[in-house]
Amino acid sequence: MARLVINENKKESTIEPEIYGHFSEHLGRCIYEGIYVGENPDIPNVNGMRSDVVQALKELKVPMLRWPGGCFADEYHWKDGIGPKEKRKKMVNTHWGGVVEDNSFGTHEYMELCRQIGCKTYINGNLGSGTVQEMSEWIEYMTFRGISPMADMRKENGHEEPWKVDFFGVGNENWGCGGNMTPEHYANEYRRYQTYVRNYDAENPVKKVCCGANVSDYFWTERVLKTAFDHGEHCHGFMDYLSLHYYVHPEGWDIKGSATDFDEETWYKTLNKALYMERLIERHGAIMDQYDPDKKIGMCVDEWGSWYTCEPGTNPGFLYQQNTVRDALIAGITLNIFNKHSDRVKIAALAQMVNVLQAVLLTEGNNMIKTPTYHVMHMYRHHQGAELLQSAVTGVDEIGIGEWKVPRITESVSMDKEGVITITMNNLSIEASEDVDISFTNSGYEQIEATIVSHVDMHAKNTFDNPEEVCEKAFMDYTVSEEGIRVKMPKNSVVAFRVKK
Ligand code: AHR
Repeated sequence: MARLVINENKKESTIEPEIYGHFSEHLGRCIYEGIYVGENPDIPNVNGMRSDVVQALKELKVPMLRWPGGCFADEYHWKDGIGPKEKRKKMVNTHWGGVVEDNSFGTHEYMELCRQIGCKTYINGNLGSGTVQEMSEWIEYMTFRGISPMADMRKENGHEEPWKVDFFGVGNENWGCGGNMTPEHYANEYRRYQTYVRNYDAENPVKKVCCGANVSDYFWTERVLKTAFDHGEHCHGFMDYLSLHYYVHPEGWDIKGSATDFDEETWYKTLNKALYMERLIERHGAIMDQYDPDKKIGMCVDEWGSWYTCEPGTNPGFLYQQNTVRDALIAGITLNIFNKHSDRVKIAALAQMVNVLQAVLLTEGNNMIKTPTYHVMHMYRHHQGAELLQSAVTGVDEIGIGEWKVPRITESVSMDKEGVITITMNNLSIEASEDVDISFTNSGYEQIEATIVSHVDMHAKNTFDNPEEVCEKAFMDYTVSEEGIRVKMPKNSVVAFRVKK
């Protein structure tokens, strides 16, 4: 019998809403078709944004959206994506399928999308192949209120008021697709480029994201901080976040593995790899602690999720994959880890929002379905902005096959401003349900409700013919007593409780 002990009196750290962020890249059918349909009369839209997709994202309470890449960002020249659409330059999307990018979705369209969703903006600048001037002018174009060449150009293009840029990435994966730089070289470039990311609006400073490591490249983290960490001699806001990218590939980077056709051992292997996120956060975090013991720089895991072999018959450059109950568990596990480390992790972005990798939404023509991952993010949305509570689970043995061991249960707990407690738990077993006894420091309850995402078949997924095979349902398999809540968690399940005391 597992035991989850919650101390409502011990608040550990604030779970920043942006931990529940998303990522939209000019990749495959993410932007075009998945989000933006221009003037297509067959798909209901507002100013080109699909109404079904925007509605689903609003229900998810998407707090922040990263754009335009990814690897695409370091080849993107923002001036190609403004002004009359018929005059916009076309380019080849060299990273993603070699398709023609007509730039019909640019800065104005991205800002309109964020307005419709009601989320914060996170723009990733081009350091790899762009100039300092280009980056500097993009910031001026977006955020300068007065008279200036770029602000005037924005006004000519139909937007009088400046926008708010909440977060700005100074390059992406500059150790790889963003220029193949050494950490020292990038860090010096970071110092230079970020200087010209000006704060034109003192009340709404642009928060800067420095490019961090790929997976376990601790050398990168150490060297970048050694060269670019601001020891206080410069103005505030030199580096607000350091990024980290980690994807789960069941069989490794080269082979990856199928999204839907996997055996029991691969289930555990995949979840074991998802759990590796915790070690990465701890080890990179320990290096950050040496420079920044007060945790002023947030860790920004702005690319995470499962990355499988793309769906058979689809363009390999488009990274389209299905999403099963296994992905629901990957999301549940990872979000619990982020919550537990919310003293350091301040931003995260699941890759990618629609039709690419571990997407929350899939589209086909004018149809849209929600994936199992969508439903988990919907259940977890209550953690956004809440205080992480001290909690620990005991009496949980390790399960798995061969070397691929995982704990049976993972969890995290938070309390929101109204005092409502959210408990999110995962049963990672594909064999057995698990009884969990939840106890609290203080007694008494006013209201308890719970929902679940689960399926007896670990391969279960949603399709356009059967869109609700795996979805969030009311969960009733628990009893309440003076001592606490006794829960029977089905195998392959993600459960969320909302407890008002
Ligand atoms: O998400 C797909 C790609 O993965 C991104 O463009 C890049 O940043 C990462 O390597």
